[in-house]
Amino acid sequence: MDYEGLFSSNMPLPVEMPAGLQAETKYVFSVTYADRHVFPTEGLIEALSTAIRREGSSLSQYPPPQGHLGLREMIAGNLGAQRGARVDPESIFLSSGAGGAIGAVLDVFVDPGDIVLAEEFTYLGTLRMLLERGADVRHVPTDADGMDTDALEHIIKELAAGGHRPKMIYTISVYQNPVGVTLSLERRRRMVEISQKYGVPIFENESYADFRIDGDPLPPAMLGMDDQDSVMYVSAYTKLLGCGLRLGYGVAPDPVLESLRKVRFGGSPSHLSSLAAYEFLKNNREEYITDVASSLRAKRDAMLGALKDYFPSNCTWSRPGGGMMLWIRLPPNADTLAALPKAVEADVKYNPGTVFRAERDCPDYLRLTYSHNSPDEIRDGIEVLAGVFQREGLFDA
Ligand SMILES: Cc1ncc(COP(=O)(O)O)c(C=O)c1O
Repeated sequence: MDYEGLFSSNMPLPVEMPAGLQAETKYVFSVTYADRHVFPTEGLIEALSTAIRREGSSLSQYPPPQGHLGLREMIAGNLGAQRGARVDPESIFLSSGAGGAIGAVLDVFVDPGDIVLAEEFTYLGTLRMLLERGADVRHVPTDADGMDTDALEHIIKELAAGGHRPKMIYTISVYQNPVGVTLSLERRRRMVEISQKYGVPIFENESYADFRIDGDPLPPAMLGMDDQDSVMYVSAYTKLLGCGLRLGYGVAPDPVLESLRKVRFGGSPSHLSSLAAYEFLKNNREEYITDVASSLRAKRDAMLGALKDYFPSNCTWSRPGGGMMLWIRLPPNADTLAALPKAVEADVKYNPGTVFRAERDCPDYLRLTYSHNSPDEIRDGIEVLAGVFQREGLFDA
């Protein structure tokens, strides 16, 4: 068959990703997998069989367009209790992971050339979706309190002066991926004000809100601070209950829901996953979150300890109070993108800083995730990685 000329002209633009990220390695410091060392196999088996016995016959039909109602009611309850946001279950739609909700929202907002504002470094999956859609991603300076709202307002004002209105402010406001910082309460208030004042919606990604390890309690979500339909929200159960579950959710105000209906919310997730997650979380949520946090604490501390032992003092790194990743800066001339194939040969993979930037710059940074390997493996893997960086000259200032 000759397929020439048959493919859609709407195919996504190609976005280069380092080949090494697809490799199989023993030490996986490049993906925020759910923590397999506390994975609730027995709990999920029990939850799923109970749920199938009770409402399994619903599987014979297509699920509701916005997904399992019981789970949406539970999410609404949790958003109220944990994140300070009162939400109607009818404003919630279940999705194929957080990525499914993000893709659906971008589908209804972003045309080629549209400006989207994001943190100085941002989650590579969303960035890729934005670049594939031809968005003009502008990174906003970000510090220990999250996105700098003065800089944000300045950028929006300048754009407005040139006749441009960004389509959205995309922010990972909790244990930001990749930097690990949390947007402060004061900046949340400012961001909502800015959003309302300039008519630029916020797209708030709280995928890591369930992963507080220690440190300060999280400030409430912006979703609950806004009274003008300015905030869209996304989160997921993938990092908690398993990436393979492919279960996430979005929350959107009515005008956005109307548009999302036209793209059928990007397709609903497996109803079986929804049943399992609903039944399991209904009975085990708090206890399980505590178990995950204590496992992640041991892993984070193993990685911090190993970095201290094996990385030289001309490198710096974050010490996040939650989430699943550390953000490392090497000396200015280090090229973590070029070194990735050598690391993969040595059985370690990580994310070079370049993949978190629209311009694909900043190769002196890297992100290391700690949710997958055990504390002992993490220690060994960091020693191996330090050896690679040493040999490749990345530690030479
Ligand atoms: C901030 C953020 N958003 C979304 C996702 C996508 O998650 P999912 O597997 O739920 O689609 C990730 C995964 O790493 C993430 O870190």
